[in-house]
Amino acid sequence: MKRLLVTLLWAFAAFTLAAQGVSVEKARFHVGDNAAWQQPGFDDSSWQILDLDRDWNQQGIQNANAFAWYRIHVVIPSELKKGFTKDVLLDLGPIDDWDETWLNGVRVGKTGSYPGDSEKVEGNWETPRRYVVDPSLVRWDQENIIAVRVYNGGDPGGFYERPVWIGKPGLTDYATLGLARKGNKAEAVLTSRVKTGGTLTLTKVEILSGEQLERSSKKVKLTPDKPYKVSMPMEGQVRVEVAYTDNNFDDLLASVVSNPYILTPPAPATPRYNGPLVFGVRPGSPVIFRLAFSGDKPMKFAVEGLPEGVVLDPDKGVLSGSCQEEGDYPLVFTATNDKGSTSARFTLKVGPQIALTPPMGWNSWNCWGLSVSQEKVMASAAALINRGLADYGYSYMNIDDAWEAAERNPDGTISSNEKFPDMKALGDWLHSNGLKLGIYSSPGDHTCGGHLGSLDHEEQDARTFASWGVDYLKYDWCGYSKVFNPSKDHSTAAYMRPYMKMQQYLREQPRDIFYSLCQYGMANVWEWGAFVDANSWRTTGDIRDEWGSMSGIGFSNQLELYPYAGPGHWNDPDMLVVGKVGWSDNLRDSRLTPDEQYTHISLWSLQAANMLIGCPIDQMDDFTFNLLCNNEVNAVNQDVLGQQAHRDDAEDGMQIWSRDLADGGKAIGIFNLNESSVPTYLKGALERIGVKADTVRDLWRQKDIPTEATYNIPPHGVLYVKVKL
Ligand code: GLA
Repeated sequence: MKRLLVTLLWAFAAFTLAAQGVSVEKARFHVGDNAAWQQPGFDDSSWQILDLDRDWNQQGIQNANAFAWYRIHVVIPSELKKGFTKDVLLDLGPIDDWDETWLNGVRVGKTGSYPGDSEKVEGNWETPRRYVVDPSLVRWDQENIIAVRVYNGGDPGGFYERPVWIGKPGLTDYATLGLARKGNKAEAVLTSRVKTGGTLTLTKVEILSGEQLERSSKKVKLTPDKPYKVSMPMEGQVRVEVAYTDNNFDDLLASVVSNPYILTPPAPATPRYNGPLVFGVRPGSPVIFRLAFSGDKPMKFAVEGLPEGVVLDPDKGVLSGSCQEEGDYPLVFTATNDKGSTSARFTLKVGPQIALTPPMGWNSWNCWGLSVSQEKVMASAAALINRGLADYGYSYMNIDDAWEAAERNPDGTISSNEKFPDMKALGDWLHSNGLKLGIYSSPGDHTCGGHLGSLDHEEQDARTFASWGVDYLKYDWCGYSKVFNPSKDHSTAAYMRPYMKMQQYLREQPRDIFYSLCQYGMANVWEWGAFVDANSWRTTGDIRDEWGSMSGIGFSNQLELYPYAGPGHWNDPDMLVVGKVGWSDNLRDSRLTPDEQYTHISLWSLQAANMLIGCPIDQMDDFTFNLLCNNEVNAVNQDVLGQQAHRDDAEDGMQIWSRDLADGGKAIGIFNLNESSVPTYLKGALERIGVKADTVRDLWRQKDIPTEATYNIPPHGVLYVKVKL
């Protein structure tokens, strides 16, 4: 009997024994919260068994938006006693959202904090949980119980990425390498919790040529609590790469810091058209469109071919009015300043479809979070015009959460709070400048930030939004989890329902309202977003200004989604995290390195993503402007074919993504996901994906470059080119 039990346990744990550790694929699972569940002796045999590499929603558990527990049964082999340190590593992977973990009844780790939790611990759903535990807690060669208490604030939840791994800790579990720009120096700080030693190498590289300018390699001894500091001067367009290899561990620590460097050449003084080549409006809806010409101001504008009812403000270059008659209207825009005159061909499409190219604009969330105000929106809107971002097609000014009054009016209508004294006036001012107003709400009774949602007031809210002149609604699931009862119905139709409801009322309004779904990709929203008439749908949880977050979304989450994007309906991998961000009044520079920011914008350009700037535009530096206002990079994002890029190749940390363009060309991004530069023979890289070309256009530098050459692609950086086929 006992033997049978042991065999069964082994079977359900489905772990495999490898030289350095044990992999566990399944665990016992139960919704609820009870301190007794930490205890190794607790009988969990009635609990259900879940896979650890898929979230619990994917395994039929719905609406567990609070606590749930996993209990992992695992035999830990005594081979793991060996090694440079005696400790054992519990590598649980990321957990959605927050966890507290016990080994055989002793608490060994915690990541994140649940609402109202007095013990604040850093981390969120994406943080890999690597808990180093004292070997005395382990029952060697016997069954151990890892009990994990999970708090989930909103679906999906739980373990979701990969099996759990029990093995030996690595260097990164004991040591840290901090690297930052301090004045004109790169300063590296190395710390370790164990006594060890190794080699620290600093290399300074000229960014554009990839030429190595300086290198220093030092033998280093590390003792606990004694940080080792070293610095290297960094002036000009350089980056410093730091790597530490240890004598006792196989893994290494590496980091890179760069001075921001501008690749986009300044726009010419003569007028240049940088906007989309097509704009869709429904018959009778107001036309709001600003001609996006860079060049010296003042400028005079003219448009040929305008249909009846649509007029041009020749000084501002703003189209307004409306057109009843469906059809494609070929227009010619002309802008003139004292340096010259330029014309561009354009099509105004009056018909059922709007959002023919991905939306470009601004959203308050990544910078201001809940501290957004009308004043802050106005400051960014004014800067959109004065700094010239409107000359590149950025036009939506979207107010995210925290504009709502605390309570509805007696007649049930919603109003703005004291931070937004006059929404209609704000809308009118934006429209008079050819800009558009966006707003935020939830199908639930409250938003993610705890403000009023639209539940049971959908029709009233749609009318109120239209009366303010709203052109864009971000509709965020959040509070709807309270209403949603998946134990009764968790069909796709149930996920679609709240979005269909609001859409019906939006379509009744006498204006076009871009409909932006925000429900983090649940129930494969990309498969049905277009059926609820959405113009875009968020495919992920919230982005942050960290490489893991941005690259995870851009490279992994978007991988299979390209077939679903197209004119009128786009995948939305979330808003941009360049410039100053902070989700509050405390702003700081994006933590992405300059190369990571080039990667970010290149990926969003390739992936036909919503281009919503998340920083205060009035505080934007020249580097960020160069990222956002490269007309050739933006032209790919706005290409009228609307084909989202797909990945053609991935090997050795290099990835190649491409998309076909309306002019018969192809945009290609060659990305380096490694921690150090990779010299890349361009012709060879292109041939890997079946492209033959002697010369290509370097989109960031805006110049033709030969393919018969080797280019250094920086760590986490990109070479972004266009091939004319
Ligand atoms: C959610 C969304 C964010 C933002 C906040 C506002 O987290 O995903 O983009 O809108 O809500 O509370």
